[in-house]
Amino acid sequence: MPDLALEVRRRRTFAIISHPDAGKTTLTEKLLLFSGAINIAGSVKARKAARHATSDWMEIEKQRGISVASSVMQMEYRDCVINLLDTPGHQDFSEDTYRVLTAVDAALMVIDAANGVEPQTRRLLQVCRARNTPILTFVNKMDREVQAPLDLMDEIERELGMTVVPFTWPVGMGKLFHGVYDRRSDQMRVFDAGADRVGGDEEVHAGLDNPESVRRFGLEWQQAKEEMELLAGAAPAFEANAFLAGQQTPMLFGSAINNFGVREVLDALVDLAPPPGPKPALQRTVQPTEPKFSGVVFKIQANMDPAHRDRIAFVRCASGHFERGMKLKVVRSGKELRPNTVVSFLSQRRELLDEAFAGDIIGIPNHGVLQLGDTLTEGEALQFTGLPFFAPEIIRSVEVADPLRGKQLKAGLTQLGEEGAIQVFRPMAGTVLMLGAVGQLQFEVVQHRLESEYGVKARISPSPYQVARWVTCAPEDGGEAELKRFMQANLHRMAWDAVDAPTLLVDHQATLRAVEANWPKIQFHAMREHA
Ligand code: G4P
Repeated sequence: MPDLALEVRRRRTFAIISHPDAGKTTLTEKLLLFSGAINIAGSVKARKAARHATSDWMEIEKQRGISVASSVMQMEYRDCVINLLDTPGHQDFSEDTYRVLTAVDAALMVIDAANGVEPQTRRLLQVCRARNTPILTFVNKMDREVQAPLDLMDEIERELGMTVVPFTWPVGMGKLFHGVYDRRSDQMRVFDAGADRVGGDEEVHAGLDNPESVRRFGLEWQQAKEEMELLAGAAPAFEANAFLAGQQTPMLFGSAINNFGVREVLDALVDLAPPPGPKPALQRTVQPTEPKFSGVVFKIQANMDPAHRDRIAFVRCASGHFERGMKLKVVRSGKELRPNTVVSFLSQRRELLDEAFAGDIIGIPNHGVLQLGDTLTEGEALQFTGLPFFAPEIIRSVEVADPLRGKQLKAGLTQLGEEGAIQVFRPMAGTVLMLGAVGQLQFEVVQHRLESEYGVKARISPSPYQVARWVTCAPEDGGEAELKRFMQANLHRMAWDAVDAPTLLVDHQATLRAVEANWPKIQFHAMREHA
């Protein structure tokens, strides 16, 4: 029997959040390199490229140079098992990203030191803040001409509403970037450009009064020293509790492409990021060290391997010990599952996985048995909460060009809806299906996939609707009866979503406000949690 407490304690599960181009791919690759998970730099990028080549609908991704799909990587560092969940960078896919963020215990925010806080970082960070996810900050690209570090620190504090605690401080930048001073161990690590080193052998200068630093790094050293003296008086001390509550973020500087500052990021993750904690379910709170397995599907991805028409459900293990071949129950449907071909994501290959613990992500290939938000247990009726669905910001109608292929359209949309690639609404009065997305690009992907995977040419056209809200009514306000009355009165603008939750579709925010005013007992939700 494995030591559950030990296995949980040594797990770290996190995601990188950043604006496109800040260096997420580069840093991911370097983290894998430093942890020994891969020894050939370039394989993450190569994999990105290979995915383009193997999957047709990924063409869109290639054309636009963005990362649509996200995946999971596992590595070992020191005595820890680190799970890194990749998130799509483009804002049009933020809904998927949001859900990935529900499966992590910490986030690493990568900021391009020249650009500071960018829109996508801001949005993603809001999600982390809403969940009190602890955030580590890596300021990348110090080998370029960038913003002054004090300004960057100010900007992060102001824009993101967190207290920044600099763990390291840069000496110079761009061509005159000389390294970083580690404020906690009181030494400077000297920068050496190049992507071949795996660290540990860097030149180190001890202390703030080291004459060698003054001699070698002149003005830049002088300035960095002054800034650090300022910080010593002004910056707050690191407090683990404030960090764990998402109120303080440790900040580290470096240059991912030059392997500089990467080991420190891994060390910070291991030392500071929390191991898996308790997870709330409708029935009770589940502890990660409970002996029985439980987990939740937070992401579904289709056709990762185009040779197989399967889907992979990404399950975040919440408790217990998972073993390949064990019998699992899908609580929603009561169906049993005995996954024999569960995959893990060690290094860059899909590998068969034998066991997993709380915090780990397992991939279960299936043909639709598993849906987003599903809870898996050894038998207990548990439903984890907290997987968010957001009201779409763009609503389109969808029809099939060839009326004889209506069935295929429905089948395709059902599957794409279950994956979370798009939201599908069935009007209560009417036959034309509605699609909801948070970004325009989602429609293009769906159109492309409908054609290539389901042989359906879909016509996606503007709809009269711009705003969607899920509606409920509390029992004390009349419950089901009142909700029914509301639906009857608004039948022409009501629809069912993928899980048959009633949804109001209106043309304008102003209309929504009017409806809200007329129906004070009805609740209108911009977000629903899977339940
Ligand atoms: P992303 O996943 O966040 O979108 O960013 P990615 O790692 O792809 O990096 C974006 C660009 O920034 C890449 O250049 C990458 O080489 C560069 N970069 C990453 N880290 C550093 C760094 O520390 N310093 C400098 N100067 N550049 C860095 P690219 O030209 O867009 O791509 P490529 O030609 O290098 O592949």
